[in-house]
Amino acid sequence: MTDQPTGQPSKRLFIKTYGCQMNVYDSERMADVLRPLGYAATDRPEDADFVILNTCHIREKAAEKVYSELGRLKAIRAERIEQGLPRSTIAVAGCVAQAEGQEIIRRQPAVDMVVGPQAYHQIPELLARAARDKGERLAAAFEAEAKFDSLPADRAVKGVTAFLTVQEGCDKFCSFCVVPYTRGAEWSRPAGAILDEARALADKGVREVTLLGQNVNAYDGTGADGSVWTLAKLARAIAEIPGLDRIRYTTSHPNDMSDDLIAAHGELDALMPYLHLPVQSGSDRILRLMNRKHSADSYLKVIDKVRVARPDLAISGDFIVGFPGETERDFEDTMNLVRAVNHASAFSFRYSRRPGTPAAAMPGQVPDEVAEDRLQRLQALLFEQQTTFNASQAGKTLNVLFEKPGRHRDQAIGRSPYLQSVHVEDAKGLIGRIVPVKITSGQQNSLAGELIVETA
Ligand code: SAH
Ligand code: SF4
Ligand code: F3S
Repeated sequence: MTDQPTGQPSKRLFIKTYGCQMNVYDSERMADVLRPLGYAATDRPEDADFVILNTCHIREKAAEKVYSELGRLKAIRAERIEQGLPRSTIAVAGCVAQAEGQEIIRRQPAVDMVVGPQAYHQIPELLARAARDKGERLAAAFEAEAKFDSLPADRAVKGVTAFLTVQEGCDKFCSFCVVPYTRGAEWSRPAGAILDEARALADKGVREVTLLGQNVNAYDGTGADGSVWTLAKLARAIAEIPGLDRIRYTTSHPNDMSDDLIAAHGELDALMPYLHLPVQSGSDRILRLMNRKHSADSYLKVIDKVRVARPDLAISGDFIVGFPGETERDFEDTMNLVRAVNHASAFSFRYSRRPGTPAAAMPGQVPDEVAEDRLQRLQALLFEQQTTFNASQAGKTLNVLFEKPGRHRDQAIGRSPYLQSVHVEDAKGLIGRIVPVKITSGQQNSLAGELIVETA
């Protein structure tokens, strides 16, 4: 990179990212914040002057990993000091930082700073304080607006696809979920700032943007004229930006699938025919206990409507099994919903009891082995659907955006409109381009295809 200020000694930054796509975006933005201070990325914590763990609090396993990783980083730092290298700075960022800030500092004194997901624009200030070895080590205020206002306009772009956060936070308060507490209330970035960021990405060669939000389809940012923009309006404006040929968005709530967003799926070529719409359970009784504010039937109706607008739409979702009080019959309702939807892909999890959430105190916590057995059965069905969907692509011609080289010589890997990974030989020269590919076969996790015309 040439944008490092001259005269600054080069320092090394290592960021490890856990959790969702928004954390991936945040990690990139933290690197953007630190680049003007002379920090360049390394993928080895041993070489790093500054180490950031960007953490996830969604399930217990994810959150607990942080403490073992911190132990490892502390040992690496001790080794560096022994070798005469400068003492590295250790930061915990992300959702565990927000939820357990003081606890982290107490449990692992080696941590120099803790910074929540809405406060990472303050890292330079915290670094200066850490260097002086005094002052507050915790930044965890909810300041989404201040954060976005102070992020550098210049983003380092890694490839031809990029994430772009348009909305943060959640007001839904599903009874199992920590996100409303770690990310704060729903807040939408102004449309103009998003369009500027999207244009800058396109100028750097990005062809596909994924608009991110915890409830991205609740987007209600302000336009330049002061009016409220919906996600559909935002997608329409982004689709006009030359070079940005593909738009995706995630994650959505079923109750925020508005008619104009559904219509956009039928009208906008750039809006990819893939919808990640979590449902969590197929049992109305469990959905009520989850405080999801929708029923299995209303979910299926939404899916039907979007499929009318866009018949080839591929559906993805999230599921939780073993929620407190879930009976075998409730679980069967979930299996039936999965059969009715027919998923192209999906994520499924065993319920994890999260401190401070209403579900943690509910009666009827399901034994681990029961939940595990249900998870196995659900995943078998979901994988079967995914494999069938992928296999059904054989013989079709799909537009593929080539993203990166594959393992074979001259092979390239890209994505279909349905977010499937597509492997093609002799396509290395096509990275960054969208090219029709004849699909030859589909397996559980990817497709294979061949070029139709020599476009190079
Ligand atoms: N805002 C998004 C993502 C939330 S987190 C949404 O509403 O869909 C991603 C997924 O993690 C959720 O959809 C849910 O399936 C899962 N999840 C959240 N809390 C969980 C918990 N306590 N135990 C197990 N899975 C959980
Ligand atoms: Fe969590 Fe529910 Fe909000 Fe999604 S909608 S982030 S599952 S509270
Ligand atoms: Fe995890 Fe926070 Fe994302 S809890 S899933 S990193 S919003």
